[in-house]
Amino acid sequence: MNVLVTGGAGYIGSHTIIELITAGHSVIAVDNLSNSSRESLHRVEKITKRTIPFYQIDIRDKPLLTKLFDENDIDAVIHFAGLKAVGESIQKPLLYYENNIDSTLELLEVMTKHDVKKLVFSSSATVYGSAPIPYAESMPTGIGITNPYGRTKYMIEEILSDHSKSDPSFEYTTLRYFNPVGAHESGLIGEDPNGVPNNLMPFVTQVAVGKRDKLQIFGNDYDTIDGTGVRDYIHVVDLAKGHLAAIKNSKPGYYAYNLGTGEGMSVLQLVHAFEKASGRPIPFDIVARRAGDLPEYYADATLAEQKLGWRAEKTIDDACNDSWRWQSQNPNGFVTIN
Ligand code: NAD
Ligand code: UFG
Repeated sequence: MNVLVTGGAGYIGSHTIIELITAGHSVIAVDNLSNSSRESLHRVEKITKRTIPFYQIDIRDKPLLTKLFDENDIDAVIHFAGLKAVGESIQKPLLYYENNIDSTLELLEVMTKHDVKKLVFSSSATVYGSAPIPYAESMPTGIGITNPYGRTKYMIEEILSDHSKSDPSFEYTTLRYFNPVGAHESGLIGEDPNGVPNNLMPFVTQVAVGKRDKLQIFGNDYDTIDGTGVRDYIHVVDLAKGHLAAIKNSKPGYYAYNLGTGEGMSVLQLVHAFEKASGRPIPFDIVARRAGDLPEYYADATLAEQKLGWRAEKTIDDACNDSWRWQSQNPNGFVTIN
């Protein structure tokens, strides 16, 4: 298949392109590089030994997006492009609604015009809000979401579902990611956040490599195994393979699947696993809870296994080893000027 990957230079997009190419698909990448580097796709080209057609455009730019579709015979779209920083979304909600929702609407219009009717959308476990754990696809979504970023994911899911009812020939697969961690085993690509990392794993790897002094653990008084927050950490390569399964099993209608391991892990458990993998101590302070954080959630991961034939295979030790290889070989990330 000829697959257009929006947000293809980003963390999950770049890993997914490798899996698509390895499985025999052709890929076109589009990204405005607002949160990524051109270098990541050069590294993907090195790993796959393929040239990847790349369009540096903002997908809200309809004429340029139309030109891209005119120039390529696209069979399916995997839509990663979007802004994803929870804290920033609280400070700049309009930016998040505009970027994430407008871009999806423009994409859908251009797809419709070009008769491209297969889309895989990057959603998030955050759509379950305050639902009971483990989160299952049968549960209601949209209740108790704590930030605008999460609400953009929920709203886009609703848009896709509504659109599928109006045109049942469209094939929509929404994938609700739990917490992606890890990197490609080559050590050539990985997560490269701008500025101070918001997420746990990149913060831990930056402490290990000496870029930051100490981790701050946000609360140890939750009702969890050791008082720290519990999440479902999934290796990014497993996640990438989930997209292959989604494309392969795509069918008319709207379907949502969790991509998680089904297992919860605490912040302290992850820190200790990383110390073991890297051989480096991770000094930390316990500080106040972070506003908006939930104590504990993880996936019920059975539906994706039943319907897509996919399940997570890599371990947290694999993820820690791979994150450390990426960070230690690239202490400053991709470090090239776009
Ligand atoms: P990322 O920031 O590394 O990748 C997203 C890419 O989209 C970036 O390269 C960015 O430059 C690009 N982009 C943003 N707006 C764009 C626009 N208007 N036009 C063109 N390109 C644009 O993030 P990621 O971690 O790879 O996440 C990919 C997707 O998965 C996002 O939609 C994110 O919200 C979702 N997601 C991520 C996580 C996570 O923890 N990483 C969890 C759940 C869902
Ligand atoms: N944490 C710390 N210190 C840090 C960073 C995080 O203690 O410096 C803790 C958090 O309190 C939480 C856990 O580590 O208990 C994981 O936090 P992350 O920020 O890595 O991830 P979140 O679960 O908050 O959110 C992530 C993405 C969201 C996405 C969600 C989906 O950031 O975009 O996963 O499950 F929606």
